[in-house]
Amino acid sequence: MTRLLSAALCLVALPAFADTFEQVKVAAGQSLFEAECRRCHATDSSDPSYGPPLENVLYRAAGSVADYDYSIALEASGIVWTPAALRAWMEDNDGFMPGTKMRHVGIEDRTVQDFILAYLTSISPQDNRAIQK
Ligand code: HEC
Repeated sequence: MTRLLSAALCLVALPAFADTFEQVKVAAGQSLFEAECRRCHATDSSDPSYGPPLENVLYRAAGSVADYDYSIALEASGIVWTPAALRAWMEDNDGFMPGTKMRHVGIEDRTVQDFILAYLTSISPQDNRAIQK
């Protein structure tokens, strides 16, 4: 009976735990982003940055920030920043897209990619998929 009760309690607690887990991932991703990406990327589009701002980057068309001087390779790529494309980019951006002017970052650890993706998702409140339809 006790076991049944704790199993039931566990189920009730699960959504809260999932939220906490997501928050931890976002926080870890933010620290990793600060260390690996922030020196070139603003998260607020109104801040100056060497690379394009990454606010709302999830499902955004590549090379689409107005006024940013992209490489021809990125601008002409025709890709959309899906989670899979962002992973490939973090892992080997210049291999994934020869001709890009972003310096190689080489984040191969999938967990690190997961965290950075969680953070990038958290700074992408705009539903870019709805806009592209
Ligand atoms: C040394 C500077 C630098 C660092 C560090 C850097 N980037 Fe970039 N990033 C750039 C530049 C420059 C571009 C534009 C590339 C082009 O036009 O070919 C870019 C482009 C991008 C784009 C394409 C955005 C768009 O509007 O299409 C994404 C996504 C991106 N970077 C993610 C990241 C992530 C995630 C990290 C950290 C893991 C990171 N970058 C680290 C300089 C940097």
